[in-house]
Amino acid sequence: MRVVQVGVGSATFGRTWRKGLKEIAGVEVVGLIDASPVFLQEAREFFGVPEACCASYGSKEFYDRVQADFIIDSTPHAFHYKNALEAMRCGLNVIVVKPMSDTAATAQTMVNEAARLGRKLVIAQQIRFMEPVLQLKKLIADGVIGDIAYIQADSYFTRQGPVRDKWYQPHPLLLECAIHQFDLIRWMSGLEPDSVIADAWNMPWNEEVWGKKTAIALFQMNNGSRALFRGLSTDQPGESYPGHWEIEGTKGVLSLIKGNIWLNGERIWPAEEQREAALDLSALNAEVLKDALAYFAGGETPVLTGADNLKSLKMAFACIESSEKGSRIQL
Ligand SMILES: NC(=O)c1ccc[n+]([C@@H]2O[C@H](COP(=O)([O-])OP(=O)(O)OC[C@H]3O[C@@H](n4cnc5c(N)ncnc54)[C@H](O)[C@@H]3O)[C@@H](O)[C@H]2O)c1
Repeated sequence: MRVVQVGVGSATFGRTWRKGLKEIAGVEVVGLIDASPVFLQEAREFFGVPEACCASYGSKEFYDRVQADFIIDSTPHAFHYKNALEAMRCGLNVIVVKPMSDTAATAQTMVNEAARLGRKLVIAQQIRFMEPVLQLKKLIADGVIGDIAYIQADSYFTRQGPVRDKWYQPHPLLLECAIHQFDLIRWMSGLEPDSVIADAWNMPWNEEVWGKKTAIALFQMNNGSRALFRGLSTDQPGESYPGHWEIEGTKGVLSLIKGNIWLNGERIWPAEEQREAALDLSALNAEVLKDALAYFAGGETPVLTGADNLKSLKMAFACIESSEKGSRIQL
């Protein structure tokens, strides 16, 4: 299949698609789009794409010329809506990096337009493919801890917090970071959230600039259980992704600590104890790409779709609303 990468990210996240794009058989980079001429040239040389197949913005004329089947959009999220609608209207399928969009309304429209136009929309929520996450999901599905009563997910950042000084957003932690744990709560448990109470703020050592960098959210799930998320800008030790998890069910407790899984206090996975969860975004994005290619080829059980991801994204926007209004929000 023929792909155009929009937002090549020579020095940032866009680069992490290269492993999959080079190694997976049957995918060919036929065009590149980036607002930066310097990044565009670097990526053009890396992929060996002719200059005529590179552009600073997408258009029908461009997509017709390069004859692409799909795009990978790794631009900042404020641009995802326009890029997705444009590509889908030109007949292309879309992979877009998380978060799907910068408002719930634009994300909803992306999903609606994909359905209306008969296009496939994939959101690259790649942490779903981390090995400890897949293991935990399977243990829960196998009934090892019975019915889930309580979930706690902690995500630790440095004291500076997840600062994004390239663009302003009021809630970098909730929209760009916590979206991973929100998606994992749904993906691993098979439960859906009914409502949330959340708060987002800055620690005394974080200035107000670049938005709120710490948040806590308590979700009520559709089986009556509770899921607590804490995203902290802290000196406490711990990792951001997948983070530290405690999942308690009617028959026992599963813990995920530094990439190791514990059942009722006994370490059960992996065979050799890990010092930390290995986060290889290039390898994980290759898994996203494989999942998307199978979906685009007609596969009926994709792991990652826009319609499903919208439910995770709405958790982030509900937290933002709850934090700003100081009240419980129904999902
Ligand atoms: N784990 C993950 O899935 C993960 C990790 C990091 C970042 N991200 C997401 O990736 C997105 C991009 O983040 P980043 O730090 O790589 O951003 P960035 O500012 O580095 O931009 C990425 C690329 O897009 C290009 N670009 C910017 N605006 C453009 C436009 N209007 N049209 C075409 N190209 C444009 C830039 O030149 C750059 O090459 C964000 O939405 C972020 O949340 C996801």
